[in-house]
Amino acid sequence: MQSFKLNETDILSNQDWTFPTFTAYGPGRFKEIGKFCNNFNITNALIVTDSGSVNLPFINDLSNYLSDAKLKSAIYSNISPNPRDDEIDGGCKKFIDGNHDAIIAIGGGSAMDGGKAISLTAKSGIPLWDFEFLDKTPRDLKGKNPFPKIITIPTTAGTGAETEITAMVTDTKKGMKFCLWHPDARPCLALVDPELTLKLPANLTAWTGIDAMIHAIEGYSVPMFHPLCDGSALESLSLISKSLHLAVEEPDNLLARGGMIMGSYLGGVAFLKGLGLVHAISHMVGAEYNTHHGLTNAIILPVVMDYNLPGLEEKVKRMSQAMQFEDSSINGFKNNLNEMLDILKIPRGLNEIGVPEDSYERIAKKSMLDQAYGQNPKKASLDEVKDLVIKSIKQAR
Ligand SMILES: NC(=O)c1ccc[n+]([C@@H]2O[C@H](COP(=O)([O-])OP(=O)(O)OC[C@H]3O[C@@H](n4cnc5c(N)ncnc54)[C@H](O)[C@@H]3O)[C@@H](O)[C@H]2O)c1
Ligand SMILES: [Fe+2]
Repeated sequence: MQSFKLNETDILSNQDWTFPTFTAYGPGRFKEIGKFCNNFNITNALIVTDSGSVNLPFINDLSNYLSDAKLKSAIYSNISPNPRDDEIDGGCKKFIDGNHDAIIAIGGGSAMDGGKAISLTAKSGIPLWDFEFLDKTPRDLKGKNPFPKIITIPTTAGTGAETEITAMVTDTKKGMKFCLWHPDARPCLALVDPELTLKLPANLTAWTGIDAMIHAIEGYSVPMFHPLCDGSALESLSLISKSLHLAVEEPDNLLARGGMIMGSYLGGVAFLKGLGLVHAISHMVGAEYNTHHGLTNAIILPVVMDYNLPGLEEKVKRMSQAMQFEDSSINGFKNNLNEMLDILKIPRGLNEIGVPEDSYERIAKKSMLDQAYGQNPKKASLDEVKDLVIKSIKQAR
């Protein structure tokens, strides 16, 4: 098979795109944030980030870029790796008390989801959980859009959470994680600058990168005709297969970081079609044990692939071709993915990251209430989900 390479001229240049949302891509674009705020009439943004990122250089840089542009801002950083409803309430209060007119959500998926959830509730006054639309229709806003402007800036590659308003938030009462969104809410700008990921440590580069890869695999596997998402999934897999290992091995390689952040962005577009059992199970594990989302997914992936892939031969062939695997059979695909997980030092069971065996029944039942459960290519029974969860805990590969 011919070996295609990352296109340096494209990845290292600046690009502006108008869909899926207005996007400024390119190394160094972060410095333009003051100009973008002025363009959007933003004068007093609330910067939302997670507690782990607040002391990283990009937060200080952001505050400086805003004050250089004579703009006011404040920081809200009480967001944990799996954002919780009480943290969103705290952010809403800060937004109102500070008289802010916009949100800049900067960091990994947790920070961006935190900012997005705050933007849904802060000004609308609509209770947070009214934005969970499993079997309801979105609330009619009577022609008024009450959502403040939000700019998303990813610093992991990653969740692809920058293009949409969907936010995963933990319901602390139920111990479950739910997806919140509204069709009228959407970032006015996704600022995608690969330089922001240069300092991402090797383990987080690997975990967040595999999350992006799984968005493309699960999205592509959803049985629905959606060529836009499917095209994004295949291009995402193509970019990730060329960049992930390189980004882990050579953290300063801007070409690899650019390939990864775009692979992640496209993975975010791919899963607008849906996800599957990897995410359904992982969301509930994350809600209960506060495990890292990408790492949890990476461990579960082989178990769900064993269950899902038979019957998806054609799709597996196209994904294998996108990833330049020599063997495009189901076994070849699984072996290549397992080898990648080994190289990236992914544990072989959720028990290695603190998930106890006796949680399997509870996790299985909760997983079946996740939106992604119903999007899986095969309808799994409770016994089957229990089996997948127990395997993921004890020995996933
Ligand atoms: N809304 C969506 O579309 C969507 C999709 C997938 C995942 N998610 C959610 O995103 C979250 C996971 O996001 P994530 O994988 O990006 O991890 P994360 O946001 O939880 O971040 C992980 C850690 O990386 C640190 N970090 C972030 N950027 C860094 C950088 N440049 N350098 C050094 N450290 C950095 C953070 O401070 C944090 O400690 C989960 O809560 C998941 O549910 C949302
Ligand atoms: Fe994910």
